[in-house]
Amino acid sequence: MARAWTGLGGNDVVWLLFLGALASLGLTKPEHSPYEWLALLALGALQVTEGNLGWTEAPRKAAASVAVKLALCYVLVWATGGIESSYYLIFLLPIVSAASMFGFGGSLLTAAVSSGLYLSYLLFVLESYYVPPEGARELTVRVLFFFLSAILVNRLAAENRLKTRRLSQANQELSQAQADVRRAERLAALGQLSAGLAHEIRNPLGVISASSELLAKRVAGQDDVAREMADYIRSEVNRANALVTRFLDFARPSKLHRATGQLNDVVRRAVASLQESRPPDAPAVRLEAELGDLPRFFFDETLIESAVFNLLLNAREALEAGGSIRVSTSRQEDEALIVVSDDGPGIPADKLEDVFNPFFTTKPRGVGLGLAMVSKFVDSHGGKISVESEPGKGATFRVLLPIQQDE
Ligand SMILES: Nc1ncnc2c1ncn2[C@@H]1O[C@H](COP(=O)(O)OP(=O)(O)OP(=O)(O)O)[C@@H](O)[C@H]1O
Ligand SMILES: [Mg+2]
Repeated sequence: MARAWTGLGGNDVVWLLFLGALASLGLTKPEHSPYEWLALLALGALQVTEGNLGWTEAPRKAAASVAVKLALCYVLVWATGGIESSYYLIFLLPIVSAASMFGFGGSLLTAAVSSGLYLSYLLFVLESYYVPPEGARELTVRVLFFFLSAILVNRLAAENRLKTRRLSQANQELSQAQADVRRAERLAALGQLSAGLAHEIRNPLGVISASSELLAKRVAGQDDVAREMADYIRSEVNRANALVTRFLDFARPSKLHRATGQLNDVVRRAVASLQESRPPDAPAVRLEAELGDLPRFFFDETLIESAVFNLLLNAREALEAGGSIRVSTSRQEDEALIVVSDDGPGIPADKLEDVFNPFFTTKPRGVGLGLAMVSKFVDSHGGKISVESEPGKGATFRVLLPIQQDE
């Protein structure tokens, strides 16, 4: 993208002073060619323009600018004596520019073209002039310095680029972390607010439930419709109460009660609870467990059992048309891995990030707290949870827990 002129910086002034000094030096010579000034003027203008218009960041413009510089250098050296010109070092300008902007190949190519251009002045003199061996040595040394400068500047520039890349990566990670913290803070504030509200709702719910029970007793045997209504009130209030309790459980900071235990036993218990809680009309679901060799370690059995149970429950709920669930445990160096996978409908790629958010649900009677709780429990153990899914083929949840021997 074209960039607007950014104005003269300190660097530009130094360039202009330098080229101005060269031009004035030219004045002190008895003979001077107008091409010398023109070339110096054009080099100065190009040098200042390319930086200000951001040409150095666009590869094509940068290459064109290096080519023009080479041509101007050629004219300048030619106008000031060709092979004998003391301006030959001006070739360092395109060489250093190329070395700082291009890769190794581009830098060497510019050094080679500069050397070729410089040595080409020999063609003008060779017919009438013989180059003595010390002259040839001197020329070789000059040309070698062109290459040396290209290689040195290129290496420095490459190191700088690497540092800049690392810095910008670190910067990006930092802003991501800051965004995460802000999100966590917002959620925490929201959580506190809703926890307060939920707590307040529990009292009136208790009164409604007790009153409906009383009402049901009063009208029992007299008014069947009224008794049925009272039962509805009671069962709905109980449901609302269970919901509020679940929410409060989620919002409360989880206190860990860790003890040394066997994770495989905990997984077995979660599997058994799932089987016990199977609704009578649920579709047939095959459940396979493959429990690997795990040492006993330090963790909160209740929280992890609830986490595994929630993952299994989600898998069963996803298998509305039947299917199979697999749960496995294994050791991964210093961590225990629990994998729960199913061959249900899976989770769309754009929802994979959301499933752990509180209140994200796609179920008509879901609350969306299951996975938020699981991830909270896993986090509190210093573990990690991740999900992978290929829509149509199922979902796989992985939980990694650090194998810690004691506090
Ligand atoms: N195994 C799975 N297969 C497909 N989708 C899943 C699976 N597990 C979770 N999900 C998706 O993630 C959403 C969130 O799950 P989560 O357990 O947090 O809440 P929920 O099951 O909807 O409600 P609840 O609070 O009762 O657990 C689900 O609604 C579902 O869309
Ligand atoms: Mg759930």
